[in-house]
Amino acid sequence: MNRREFLITTSAAAIVPRITLAATRAELIAQPISAQILPEGEPATPMLGFNGSTPGPVVRARQGEVFDVRFLNQIGEGSAVHWHGLRSDNAMDGVPGLTQDVVEAGSEFAYRFRAPDAGTFWYHSHNRSWEQVAKGLYGPLIVDEPTPPDVDHDLIVMIDDWRMTEAGTLAEGFENMHDQAHQGRLGNFARALVEPQVTVRRGDRVRLRLINVATDRIFPVEIEGIDGKIVALDGMPLSDPHELSDFILAPAQRVDIIADVATSDQVAFVFPTRDGPYLLGEVPVAGENTERQPSVVRALPANETAQPDMGNAIPLTLTMQGGAMSRRMMQGMAGGGIWAFNGQSGLTDTPFHLFERGQTARIRLVNDTSFAHGIHLHGHHFFEVEADGDLGALRDTTLVDAGETRDIVCVFDNPGRWLLHCHMLGHQAAGMKTWVEVV
Ligand code: C2O
Ligand code: CU
Repeated sequence: MNRREFLITTSAAAIVPRITLAATRAELIAQPISAQILPEGEPATPMLGFNGSTPGPVVRARQGEVFDVRFLNQIGEGSAVHWHGLRSDNAMDGVPGLTQDVVEAGSEFAYRFRAPDAGTFWYHSHNRSWEQVAKGLYGPLIVDEPTPPDVDHDLIVMIDDWRMTEAGTLAEGFENMHDQAHQGRLGNFARALVEPQVTVRRGDRVRLRLINVATDRIFPVEIEGIDGKIVALDGMPLSDPHELSDFILAPAQRVDIIADVATSDQVAFVFPTRDGPYLLGEVPVAGENTERQPSVVRALPANETAQPDMGNAIPLTLTMQGGAMSRRMMQGMAGGGIWAFNGQSGLTDTPFHLFERGQTARIRLVNDTSFAHGIHLHGHHFFEVEADGDLGALRDTTLVDAGETRDIVCVFDNPGRWLLHCHMLGHQAAGMKTWVEVV
């Protein structure tokens, strides 16, 4: 852990988390804040944050430890906190109406859960998330390996976009139907927020934990100035780390990279757009690390997960429907939203499927729409089935392009009621969600 992470500052306008709650006991106070989203000198933006900042503080523990988080809701409307990607207790999953009652304005909730997996996770509001997350209610949730990899810097890189007005406020219209029927609410200003803000040396070994915290935008990312490997996706280590190349982060997805600084200029996070490269953020480089011996980047220790029973996998199909430019929109869907799974928009009283604990399912995700969707399952990680039929990476959010079909394989071994939804939060708002139950 970096020394700077223990510093506490009182800067009210921070847009990077200044406080690491290194202890597993933490207090998260959701409240209105003012944040410097636009460059210094431009107006600050009224937003929502935790403990005075957006992103909220780094909540961090060691693998196997128990998080004890007292959540106080002072935003003036109901809220709840979801610990994205953590295979936690169902009662602590933070989904109002499914796993808990909404935490009313002015009240609080005690979250207490174990961190079974080491890796990069995040927390965010799960009530009216398309608006509360857009306004800033999220932060990083980091679980350290018992013996963390040997690096000089461990950096969290949260990528977000905001829809700003000329006056520096967030544009209204969080439930704009046109947005929801298309890609969702896309911002006009994007940044990579690096925490802690350090200067690195050429030759340093760094760990980068990228998190797409945007409500709806898919970010292709290029990183300039480092040489290394992708070691984990969505918090789960890759048994065979990939050579670092450009990659895509759907909303909520994470990528962990271990790499060596190979420039004396700056490490740059670049979002390639149709109008050319957009610089999201950078880490300055000064000096040289002459001590570090060159070494290969090794795989992180695997988290313990159940082996799927492929021979007895229950075959299921989840077809994404609706949105602009779709047949289905015209025909109408049960539930009346813009988006649906299998003809049903929004949650029903009965789950999409009821599993007995430990059962394996192979779910065919069929994207019968004109837009990409990042499908997220709560409480579990699943394998993406690769084109050749092999089981690929373990993820909690998978990006399925327009017209694409992808199979996922999941061992449903975590009891409870779990949401399964599109993490384009505007799509979720407009009905692209369902739930499963494990008994
Ligand atoms: Cu990131 Cu349903 O959550
Ligand atoms: Cu979607």
